[in-house]
Formats: sequence, C-alpha cells, structure tokens
Amino acid sequence: MSLLDAARDVRENAYAPYSHFKVGAAVRAASGTVYVGCNVENVAYPEGTCAEAGAIAAMVAAGETEIIEVCVIADSPTPVTPCGGCRQKLAEFSRGEVTVRMATVDGPEQVVTVADLLPGAFGLGHLGQGHGEKG
Ligand code: THU
Repeated sequence: MSLLDAARDVRENAYAPYSHFKVGAAVRAASGTVYVGCNVENVAYPEGTCAEAGAIAAMVAAGETEIIEVCVIADSPTPVTPCGGCRQKLAEFSRGEVTVRMATVDGPEQVVTVADLLPGAFGLGHLGQGHGEKG
C-alpha cells in the first residue's frame, strides 16, 4: 500500500466533530514500516491532536525514531500543510530533505521537504548541544 493510500484510509477514522475537517497522515520509518494517524478532536478544543502527531506517536511507540517519507491528506481546496507545531514534530524525527507529500481528496497535490516547511528550525544547536544535526 502506498503512503498516500495509507493516509487516505486512516483519514476515514478521524474524529473531527467540531471542525468537520478530517485529516490523515502516514509516515514511513527507516525500517520501511508505515505508521498512520488521524486528527482526534476534543470538546476542550486545545486538547485535540493533529493527524501528524498521531502518526509520529505510533512510530515512536513501535520503537522507531527516523522518518524517511511523509504524506498528509485532507478534503481541502489546496494541499493541506502541516500546522506549525507539527512541522516542529516532523523535524524532530526527519532529515531536512525528507519529502512531505501534501494531498487533497480531490487530487491536487504538492511535494515539499521538511526543511522547506520549517526554515530556521529550532534545534540542538540552539541548546548548545552536539552539532545541531536536528536543526
Ligand atoms: N489538522 C491536522 O490534523 N493536521 C494538519 O496538518 C492541519 C490541521 C487538524 C487539527 C484540527 O482537528 C483540524 O485539522 C482543523 O484544524
């Protein structure tokens, strides 16, 4: 199954009774395994979580920490872009050149990289640790 198909399928399970905006995300980890997530909203709105966060949590729970490919899909007029917080979450586990395929249910797509999405990312270098590989 392609990453796009996985994201499209999991989107059906999104819990979005407040925004009615269902999002599906799929990440391929270094092992080749695909992890999926959907947005899960809450009546206390800030407690809702994004699709990307769910996919990343599933990957980490399975014992992986390296993303090599990302796909996000929603029923939006233009390709859905990860929110600011999710860009930082993706950057935590991805090299800058990792591609993010942003898709729509109706077809239009755009492919960017994690570095494109988060220029000037906050990273280890800012903490004065290591060589700043994470940004
Ligand atoms: N949402 C995601 O799950 N991922 C994104 O990349 C953008 C936004 C969700 C959060 C909320 O449940 C709904 O979409 C509307 O903002």
